Amino acid sequence: MIIETQEDVTRAVIAEMHRTPDARTKEILEALVRHLHALVREVRLTEREFQAAIRLVNAIGQHTTPSHNEAMLIAGALGVSNLVCLINNGAGGTRPTQANNLGPFWRAGAPEIANGGTLLRSPVPGDALFFRGRVQDAEGRPIAGVKVDVWHSSPVGLYENQDPTQAEMNLRGIFTTGADGSFAFRSVKPGAYPVPIEGPAGVLLNAQKRHNWRPAHLHFIFFKPGWKTIASQVYTNDDKYLETDSQFGVTRALIGHYVKHENEPAPGPGVTGTWWSLDHTFVLEPGEARMPAPPITQKVEAGA
Ligand SMILES: [Fe+2]
Repeated sequence: MIIETQEDVTRAVIAEMHRTPDARTKEILEALVRHLHALVREVRLTEREFQAAIRLVNAIGQHTTPSHNEAMLIAGALGVSNLVCLINNGAGGTRPTQANNLGPFWRAGAPEIANGGTLLRSPVPGDALFFRGRVQDAEGRPIAGVKVDVWHSSPVGLYENQDPTQAEMNLRGIFTTGADGSFAFRSVKPGAYPVPIEGPAGVLLNAQKRHNWRPAHLHFIFFKPGWKTIASQVYTNDDKYLETDSQFGVTRALIGHYVKHENEPAPGPGVTGTWWSLDHTFVLEPGEARMPAPPITQKVEAGA
């Protein structure tokens, strides 16, 4: 159609969508255009601001590499990741859920580890952590044979993919729940960490005078055919960033209660001084078992 007024632009774009054969694609694209145009009208976006926005969107792609996912980082910083998670889990967003953001740092292909084994593949400083998880259904019945992918940052705040000094797949591993639905591993108590701010996520946070920290957490994915695959994170209860997570991931159901042990024999060898234990229960819902696409595929090169 010939555009006569600014209102016509929205009508013209939506009218051209009538060819879209896939109903869901059409629904999403129509809503995208309606909301995007409404945003432009509401804030009366200037030409200069529009050009800046285009540069930022381009920079999201330009900052994305096989070892860094800027779009995932921005989605978290805008709260979109957790919103998508919460409306798709916990009985459609009506009940608390153990599901949480996948985040930008999961890598596929971590080594399989026997229950009780360690996530450490190169030396990592920090207090020892003995984690025991239990996977069950909504009625509390254990779910055996669940593949549990675990990963977390080092206490200095870097995932192995960000840190050439860590061994390949350090602090990553895959466990399988036993007949009682449990799995267990040894690692180090994770620390809070800053998300990268070299790209547009940093521009966003700085513009709002927000810090770029995430409270300390462990990451998980639970996979078993017949059960809805979920990513999860368990946050550290004594972390000062719980209320202001820069990725808006912390929900009440995912605050883990660490127990500190001093001058007690640890359940594993070679532990001196303080160690921690953490038990956490994860609930799965029946549904589609489908692993997510890995947001990154490799470790950063040394010297990069
Ligand atoms: Fe993380």
